[in-house]
Parts: sequence; C-alpha cells; structure tokens
Amino acid sequence: MIILGIETSCDETAASVVKDGREILSHVVASSAEMHMKSGGVIPEQAAREQIKAIIPVIEEAIKQSLRSTDYGLQQKTKAVDGRPWTVDHINAIAVTVGPGLIGSLLVGVETAKTLAAVWNKPIVPVNHLVAHIYANWLETSTDYGLQTTDNRKGAVVGSRSTVDLPGIALVVSGGHTDLVLMQNHGKLEYLGGTRDDAAGEAFDKTARFLGLPYPGGPAIAKAAIEFKSQNSKVKIKLPRPMIDEDNFDFSFSGLKTAVIRERKENPDTPQEELAYEIQEAITDVLVEKTLRAVKKFNASTLLLAGGVAANSRLREKFEFSIGHLAFSIDFRVPPPYLCTDNASYIAACAKYNYNPIPWQEISANPSLTIKDSAF
Ligand code: KG4
Ligand code: ZN
Repeated sequence: MIILGIETSCDETAASVVKDGREILSHVVASSAEMHMKSGGVIPEQAAREQIKAIIPVIEEAIKQSLRSTDYGLQQKTKAVDGRPWTVDHINAIAVTVGPGLIGSLLVGVETAKTLAAVWNKPIVPVNHLVAHIYANWLETSTDYGLQTTDNRKGAVVGSRSTVDLPGIALVVSGGHTDLVLMQNHGKLEYLGGTRDDAAGEAFDKTARFLGLPYPGGPAIAKAAIEFKSQNSKVKIKLPRPMIDEDNFDFSFSGLKTAVIRERKENPDTPQEELAYEIQEAITDVLVEKTLRAVKKFNASTLLLAGGVAANSRLREKFEFSIGHLAFSIDFRVPPPYLCTDNASYIAACAKYNYNPIPWQEISANPSLTIKDSAF
C-alpha cells in the first residue's frame, strides 16, 4: 500500500510518499522555523500563512519524487515527471495530521488533503500527530535523501530494517508534548503519564530563549552543551530534576526555567554554555529515569523514542548507557534526527498500521487532540 502523508501541525509543511508503512519513496519538508528564529518562538498567524504558500509545491514535489523512485518499477514515468503530466495512480490513500497543533496550520493540511481525496477519489485517513511520531521507528532509512548526514550517532538501532516487536514503551518528547505510553499493539495505547505543565521541548525552547539562544532551543542548547564539554570545564551549578523520585510517570518542566532565571541572578558570571549543559543534563536525567522505570514495571522488551527531543544525542547516549546496565536486554529504537522532528513520513507510516479511512466530509482539524484520543 502506498500512502501520501501530509503534515502541517506547526511550522513545518511536509509531504511524503511511503510504501507499506516502511519504505520512504519521497520525503519533503519546508520549514518556516528560520522566520521564527528572530522572534524566539512560533508566531501562529505567520506559521499558517507560510503553510498556505508551501503546501501545494511541497505535495507536488513529494509526488514527483515518489514517481522518480526506481524501487517499484515506475522508472518509465521519469520523463513525464520532469516534464508534464505526472500522475497519482500509484497512491492508494492520503493520510493527514488532524491534531494536535496550531489551528491555522492544521487547517491548511486538513483542507488540502480533503480536497485532494475528493478530487482524486482516494481514501483518506485522519492521523493523530503524537501517535504518529512513534511510527518514525518503523521507517527504513536506507534510501538516501541526502538528509542522514546529520546523524553520526552510533549504538542503538537507528532506522533499522528489522521489524519492531510490540508491546513496548514509547516516550514521545516534542515541542508541545511529553507522553509516556505502553503500546500494546497498533491502535492500542495505554497512557502511563505525561507532563503536568511544560513539555520537554518547551523547556529547551524557553530556557534557550532566556539565555539568548535561537529558536528552536533544543539544538541550540545541545550545541552550547557540547562546547562546554569540549572545554573540559567542571559543572559548578546544579539545577533541579523535577519529579524524578516521584512514584508516577508524570513530568514537570516549568520549574526549570524559574531555576535557570534564579541561577543567572545569583551567579551572573556562570557561562551560558555551563547553564546550557546543566539544562540538558536535568531534562535528560528525568526522561531517562522515569522511562526506564516504566520499562521495568511493564517488563517491556522494546523501547521507542520519538518526537523532536529524541533527536538529542545526549538523551540517546544516556539511554544507551543505562540500558547497558539493566539486568535484561531491551530493543531500544530511536529514529535518525530528520525523522524525529516533524515530517510526513511517519504520518503515512502511522496510517498504514492504523488504516481507518473515513469519508472526507467527516474529517476536521482538532488542535487539542491528545495521545489518548483516536484521530477523529
Ligand atoms: O516533534 P517536533 O519537531 O515538533 C512538535 O511536534 O512539537 O519537536 C520540536 C521540539 C522543539 O522544542 C525543539 O527544541 C526540540 O524538539 N528539539 C530538540 C532537538 N531537536 C529538536 N531538543 C533537544 N535536542 C535536539 N537536538
Ligand atoms: Zn511533532
């Protein structure tokens, strides 16, 4: 089954064509993040406007790329693709993110997908963005779109070709959400806990902004932390690890920003890189500790990381280290960074494993969807 995925929940406009939920035939992402860099965060109105500009060219490019793919006998179409016309005969269904996200951004993807489903007479599958993040772990990454070069991490299975065994524990850590779930099977998720206030990504973004680092804050903090480490300096400050010892699977990251502000006030000479390092340590310590507690409690044999923050190499390093010291072995999966952050390949993959098409007339954007909800 070949699915065209469409993702527009925030500041990325993305379209992908994925075969059988695993093989990426095309992967196109346009981002307005650079525009938001100046303001230190996403301006919803502006993000929606950029979505409108990008959506048609991005979908067109994804379809053309998928036709150029030599993997499944469509080579004969190459000529037609580079000139015109091109076709969508090979696409069996459309999948679209319906939530959660920014309403203006979501509407662009949802209404475009509905229109295409109606005009092309294709089934359409509504997708929950948070559940979909987890499916980045099902995608094969052997096809080179020139994007993997940023992933120089070793160790855990990154975008493996082997199948993923369920049940497993999944940690979804994104800009707006931090959720820990027990994934019994496709479509059978048991919510274990999540953030009570700011998400892990939000904590990175907010503290980075306070330190004068650019948006998105996660990569900026990670970079500054690496600089600190490379200076061989000792960490003199200690930030809190919120809720780390509490006997539940919830998180709280809003206090971290307050702690950073206090630290700055009390010790104004603390270098920015040291603060960045300790922020990353505090966030990743809590994520690793609580997630592995869930793994132990539920005897999970698979651990799936997902979401933009899963692109953090220190987080992965800590997971690998701690997993190496467990008395039992677990299959630890983490997608390569370009599949952790928002894209449409995992939207298409999720739709394949949760194939529930509904009439396009019944699909609508739902900005406040949670990981506990089905997509519609
Ligand atoms: O999943 P995502 O791309 O979008 C949402 O669905 O929210 O996640 C974006 C979040 C941002 O908060 C960003 O700062 C964070 O992921 N992020 C990172 C890294 N790359 C992106 N956080 C820590 N380390 C990274 N390398
Ligand atoms: Zn996301």
